[in-house]
Amino acid sequence: MLNIRLFQTSDFKQVLNILKEVVSGGDTYSLSPQSTDEELESFWFAKGNHVYVCAQGDDVIGTFFIRNNQPGLGSHIANAGFMVSKYYGGRGAGRMMGEFAIVEAKQLGFDAMQFNYVVKSNTYAVELWKKLGFQVMAEIPDAFRHITLGLTPVYIMYRKL
Ligand SMILES: CC(C)(COP(=O)(O)OP(=O)(O)OC[C@H]1O[C@@H](n2cnc3c(N)ncnc32)[C@H](O)[C@@H]1OP(=O)(O)O)[C@@H](O)C(=O)NCCC(=O)NCCS
Repeated sequence: MLNIRLFQTSDFKQVLNILKEVVSGGDTYSLSPQSTDEELESFWFAKGNHVYVCAQGDDVIGTFFIRNNQPGLGSHIANAGFMVSKYYGGRGAGRMMGEFAIVEAKQLGFDAMQFNYVVKSNTYAVELWKKLGFQVMAEIPDAFRHITLGLTPVYIMYRKL
């Protein structure tokens, strides 16, 4: 059974392994596939990020954060990032985390959620976000240097909460 909860310090190693595994693919996040542990940590656990994990028993299989998309006058819009270990992909963790994040962000006081960087070729993610009510607001040409596809468009996706 999958369970979503706030990150706790004892999850750190497992979360870091998921971050490393996902960015090493070079196909979904702009973080360099060669990112150091410190770089990954400072991105995922940046000041102000609310970090959560999706666990199956003692195994952390996914993680996500919610944060302000912008400071100050833009801080009513949330941003979020999601990663599921590829060993556990396709079992519903991504959908569960997305649904949870929508409810949680509303409870945190956000009015809407914006994803700034959804790689167009990442069809599982694009389709999942559409199913959860997000719309493609813009397509940025050649915004991502995909490790195998080369220059690839990126979507900005948005939904009200
Ligand atoms: C995108 C991501 C979070 C999805 O997580 P997941 O746990 O695999 O997703 P789910 O199992 O909840 O599946 C979500 C949908 O995608 C489809 N899907 C997922 N993996 C699939 C696969 N291997 N084959 C076919 N369909 C698949 C499912 O049909 C599901 O649709 P449904 O809920 O209507 O049935 C995960 O693949 C991931 O972490 N990818 C790398 C990082 C990333 O891309 N993050 C998002 C950046 S915007």
